[in-house]
Amino acid sequence: MFRPVIRLVEPYDAGVFPEDVTRKYGVPKEKVVNVASNELPYPPPEAVVAAVSKAAVAANRYPKPDYQELKESIGEYVGVPSENIAVGCGASELIDVVCKVFLEAFDRVVVPVPSYSMYVFFAMLRDASVELLETEGCNFELRAEDIIRRGEGAKLLFLPSPNNPTGFQMRRSEILSVAEALPSSIIVVDEAYVEFGDLRESVAEDATGLDNLVVLRSFSKFFGLAGLRVGCAVASKEVAATLEKIRLPFCISGVAAAAAKAALENLEYYQEMKEKIIKERAFLESKLKELGLKVFPSAANFLLARLPEGVSAKTLTEALLRAGVIVRDVSGVLGLSRECLRVTVGTAEENRRICECIKTSLEENRR
Ligand SMILES: Cc1ncc(COP(=O)(O)O)c(C=O)c1O
Repeated sequence: MFRPVIRLVEPYDAGVFPEDVTRKYGVPKEKVVNVASNELPYPPPEAVVAAVSKAAVAANRYPKPDYQELKESIGEYVGVPSENIAVGCGASELIDVVCKVFLEAFDRVVVPVPSYSMYVFFAMLRDASVELLETEGCNFELRAEDIIRRGEGAKLLFLPSPNNPTGFQMRRSEILSVAEALPSSIIVVDEAYVEFGDLRESVAEDATGLDNLVVLRSFSKFFGLAGLRVGCAVASKEVAATLEKIRLPFCISGVAAAAAKAALENLEYYQEMKEKIIKERAFLESKLKELGLKVFPSAANFLLARLPEGVSAKTLTEALLRAGVIVRDVSGVLGLSRECLRVTVGTAEENRRICECIKTSLEENRR
């Protein structure tokens, strides 16, 4: 009854949620520290909440499907004309739309691993031939040279920068050299976390002038709107218009579009939150290193940490859950052969609690 590929694809694993921890371990919901999904730990500013309430009153109406006002605000923020922008229900929908627009059955798609699982998922649903580019051997660096070698003849390549779960950010010059060396391939640069890294390495503005470069952005991370589902793509006018043609007509709810627009009008707040995250990322990194974990340099709002020899990520993750801390065990993901955790940077208080709990769990493990 189903297409064969439906049996092959793995459903998205959204991990453990705070309510699961409360139900299973009896930890009160307000005591749970959720650092598993790379969300912002801070709530939206009042202006965004007010915009949501205001838009909710008109929820009986469809949103205007061209989302022109939102595109203009995004354009101003990114520094590109609104005609170069396509929107979607999170960056995730745009990964799907990009695959629908460009991929025929058996087209080659290159995906570095480890990385965000939805690239393989949506490419497989197009019956594309997915090739994995392993990065573990070179400290998870994505190097233009390797990408160009493997990308020869590929229809599409995904380059997440910063990458999830590694936090590695590619340099703009390296990305542009890939786009130049592979003019017949579509290079999709996923910049969902770029605001936590070095914005000078973003290729969003470059994408307006290159037919084979598509840049994805998300409102779920820096703008802390994961619950409202807003993302966008920046590309040449022709590519942006084609993505717009294929996406769902009302992919972003009126409430979410209003929130995203209000968020873009409150950049100082997000800048402040980002500064806290960057400071806390350094704290968390040094503490985890003190505890004997190998932490990879991260340009995002999370850290990839390899556990000391003999410590099982599954056992440690379970122990942390019992203590009310949700981290992500990423040991099983494609391209990661060792016992690893991914920890999102939380608030100052949360980060101290995470480190305390990891310390206690490691000590228990040694006994
Ligand atoms: C690299 C990367 N791209 C895209 C997404 C999805 O973002 P969105 O919430 O905008 O769909 C994620 C979510 O974790 C991600 O890690």
